[in-house]
Amino acid sequence: MAKILDGKVAASIVKNNLKNDVNELKEKGINPKLAVIMVGDDSSSKIYVKNKSIACNDLGIEYEEYLLNEETTMEELLNLIDKLNNDNTVHGILLQSPIPKKLDINEAFRKISPNKDVDGFNPLNVGKLVLGQDTFVSCTPLGILKILELNNIELEGKNAVIIGRSNIVGKPMIQCLLNKNATVTVCHSKTQNLNEITKKADVLVVAIGKANFITKDMVKDDAVIIDVGINRNIETKKICGDVDFENVSKVASYITPVPGGIGPMTIAMLMNNVVKAAKQSK
Ligand SMILES: NC(=O)c1ccc[n+]([C@@H]2O[C@H](COP(=O)([O-])OP(=O)(O)OC[C@H]3O[C@@H](n4cnc5c(N)ncnc54)[C@H](OP(=O)(O)O)[C@@H]3O)[C@@H](O)[C@H]2O)c1
Repeated sequence: MAKILDGKVAASIVKNNLKNDVNELKEKGINPKLAVIMVGDDSSSKIYVKNKSIACNDLGIEYEEYLLNEETTMEELLNLIDKLNNDNTVHGILLQSPIPKKLDINEAFRKISPNKDVDGFNPLNVGKLVLGQDTFVSCTPLGILKILELNNIELEGKNAVIIGRSNIVGKPMIQCLLNKNATVTVCHSKTQNLNEITKKADVLVVAIGKANFITKDMVKDDAVIIDVGINRNIETKKICGDVDFENVSKVASYITPVPGGIGPMTIAMLMNNVVKAAKQSK
């Protein structure tokens, strides 16, 4: 039976360490602050943003929210980002996605100062990650590395397979695992013979968005399973991951639950990135 990689426990370890850093920064007269921009009325985004504000509050990080309506123009959004870029009291800027389709989210990400880009979506920071340089790394892949590290799970030489190639999870995950000397394979919707590839994974990272997609027969014995997916069952309203947790946990060595796995780690690493930005601000 697999050992559970408990994201709540790991996130609280990360956050407790950050509390000391926040206090030290405050003693030096630096009050770490996160500014979050939300455009439109996406209901999931509201929950994510609320969780981020709670985490800031717990750690004593200042939190500012900018709620823009659906009619907001690109110029108005860029002007707000520009204002926050130039505000020395703001250390991290986060643009919550999705934003209305008529707006260009990539242009907005490019506008966020690389020094305040706590989500790690500015192309300059993505490039630094690829080059193996110190930078802001997207919070979910960073959280995955952290939960593995806290559980003493070694990545060097391991066969790591990622399913999903999104800009926020799959792609930065490739680089994070490569930087840890894993041998990395990335799969997507056009991948053929997926089972044959997943069966060879020592570490399997799943970020697809399809409930219970990964079944027991797709997993090697003693594999480490990281389930990033967040899916809501329409009938029961319960949240579940991309992995058939009940059956896969019978063969895996370690597995993350959903909820309570990678979700809390993502928020903890956002806090980590805000503190990092504040430390680098002077
Ligand atoms: N826990 C967290 O903090 C957190 C953070 C971010 C996302 N998530 C969750 O993670 C899931 C993925 O989100 P995302 O934004 O990373 O990805 P996404 O943009 O929704 O894309 C899904 C990816 O899965 C691939 N895919 C879809 N069907 C597939 C199949 N049958 N076989 C193999 N690959 C398939 C797609 O391939 P193509 O590229 O070929 O289309 C794509 O790369 C969602 O449930 C999301 O809610 C959780």
